Amino acid sequence: MRNSIILIFGRIGQVGWELRHKLACLGQVSTVEYPEVDFTNPDSIRSAIRAVEPAVIVNAAAYTAVDKAESELQLAMAINATGPGVLAEEAKRLGSLLVHYSTDYVFDGSKLSPYVETDTPNPINVYGRTKLAGDQAIQASGCDHLIFRTSWVYGARGNNFLLTMLRLGKERAELRIVDDQIGSPTSSECIAQATSDVLAQVLAPGATGIQGRSGIYNLTSNGETSWFGFAKAILTEAAVRFGSPLPNLVPILTANYPTPAKRPDNSCLSCQRLEQTFGVSLPHWEQALSLVLDTITEGSSPVSSKV
Ligand SMILES: NC(=O)c1ccc[n+]([C@@H]2O[C@H](COP(=O)([O-])OP(=O)(O)OC[C@H]3O[C@@H](n4cnc5c(N)ncnc54)[C@H](OP(=O)(O)O)[C@@H]3O)[C@@H](O)[C@H]2O)c1
Repeated sequence: MRNSIILIFGRIGQVGWELRHKLACLGQVSTVEYPEVDFTNPDSIRSAIRAVEPAVIVNAAAYTAVDKAESELQLAMAINATGPGVLAEEAKRLGSLLVHYSTDYVFDGSKLSPYVETDTPNPINVYGRTKLAGDQAIQASGCDHLIFRTSWVYGARGNNFLLTMLRLGKERAELRIVDDQIGSPTSSECIAQATSDVLAQVLAPGATGIQGRSGIYNLTSNGETSWFGFAKAILTEAAVRFGSPLPNLVPILTANYPTPAKRPDNSCLSCQRLEQTFGVSLPHWEQALSLVLDTITEGSSPVSSKV
């Protein structure tokens, strides 16, 4: 590779924000964000890459509004599929490595055990379809790539379930939370740290680079829970740490919480390939939650969320 520049797209997002910090030890990090680079405008993507000619392109930009995507297919497809396809073409042209993030929502959730990378995707909502199309565009380009499929992303900033629960926990005496969708909450910080750990191996002087390791890797925290279980853990810890009131938590069925987009019942992903190939594994979700709450505690009161 020609230089050590790592170009991050989506700097302001949950994962992009953490990447900027975690990748700094690996090389010269350069970032671009919307609307300076708009994924609906392929030329803006090409210009950003050609100006820097990075060794590594990391794409944390995405259309992530799962319910809204049901009525914005074209926009979601442009951002989640066409844009990543352009990144991949540029990566191929330059001989750069493309790191991209995908989702558990490429699967329909009907499997009774954790999904592995070779399971056949069958998305049940528009967001999942657009993300799968992005994965396929990258694979078809022939560029060196790492596609990390993650799930239930949250962190100390951004729009996410953790911050929504902390806000609603203060506002409401009772919360009704879905208990029949199972997955692994995964913190943006853990995703960025794991990305950094993998890239450190690929970029190390004398290393063989990505050779033979290009492909899709599931990347989530260990352990699994339901949204109800996640909410209970969040609010129980918040009561201890912040003295927040503990609302009455009621487990409900998905059928009793209709949303525009369907969600998979089983979102669990097996991360064995990541561990076997790179020796990287993420902490248990409960441990990671505790670490994120430490960050919020250190930064005083919980950050508010728009969700
Ligand atoms: N969130 C989850 O629960 C979840 C679950 C599984 C997988 N993932 C995947 O993980 C990755 C990171 O997700 P995240 O939660 O960090 O996302 P996020 O917080 O929603 O951030 C997405 C980023 O994309 C940018 N963006 C939006 N529209 C754009 C456009 N037209 N052109 C260029 N950039 C645009 C946003 O900019 P603005 O902030 O300025 O709009 C933001 O910086 C994504 O690939 C996502 O699909 C997320």
